[in-house]
Amino acid sequence: MMSDHAPAQLAYLGLNVSDLPHWHDYAARILGLEVDAGSDLSYLRMDDYSYRLLLTRGTRDDLDLLGWEMRDDAALQALRARLEAAGVAVRSGSRDALNARRVTALIEFEDPSGIRMEACVGPLIERARPFRSPRAMSNFVTGALGFGHITMTVDSLDKSLAFYRDLLGMRLSDWVRPQPERGVESHLNIAFLRCNSRHHSVAFWEMQLPKRLHHFMLQVANVDDVGATYYLCKDRDVPIELGLGRHTNDGMLSFYAQTPSGFSVEYGWGATEVDETTWRTQLHTTGSSWGHRPGG
Ligand SMILES: [Fe+2]
Repeated sequence: MMSDHAPAQLAYLGLNVSDLPHWHDYAARILGLEVDAGSDLSYLRMDDYSYRLLLTRGTRDDLDLLGWEMRDDAALQALRARLEAAGVAVRSGSRDALNARRVTALIEFEDPSGIRMEACVGPLIERARPFRSPRAMSNFVTGALGFGHITMTVDSLDKSLAFYRDLLGMRLSDWVRPQPERGVESHLNIAFLRCNSRHHSVAFWEMQLPKRLHHFMLQVANVDDVGATYYLCKDRDVPIELGLGRHTNDGMLSFYAQTPSGFSVEYGWGATEVDETTWRTQLHTTGSSWGHRPGG
């Protein structure tokens, strides 16, 4: 059991994208998401939640914000008090922000790298209008695990650990520290953090790159959806960043495709869920037990 002030799940992901029409087509035809398309703001749906991805028209083609869901108002207030005690500026969501996010309560703040964070209570659940993928597939694995996960670069590993682990109350599932090739120095050190039994909702490493976001991950219920989507990408000339493979740490069988914004989407199946009573923080020196080769 996580602390009272810890997020229950990563409920939604905001992306700043330059080509909304391309994204609408990509989300529906490649990813299998329902698209509620707007001219400046679009909502992508994958389960009972009225949306899980928010696309905002812009120029950055990068991560826009992370939306953390709290169990209830008391948990939101506990988090707010904790953030403010640590000197983090917190704003209450405006009426317009509540409407745009379709939640009953919302606070806004930033992580140590300046990444926009929101913590909410009471997301709109649309059980009377069940999710229907626009293409043939099973369904996405979400529920209490949240929408999926993201990996990103941060300005300071130490400051981000202090923020996500010590302040937000997330837990460190493991580290991946790839062994450098002979003669090549590598300081890559990736931290994987969870807030529920999904092995990680967020992973990060310290590096300066043009984009914060490396990839976001969507998990499907049937392994055939991974294989079918892999070949759908091939058939429709969607670039494969990393071919089919199995991750060492969360056991995810997945591949990575390029999105219209340049960062990747991981499409995966079969991840291990963390049992809090037995899990111990692990160290891995390779990210994949097989596959995930560049270009597929
Ligand atoms: Fe991933």
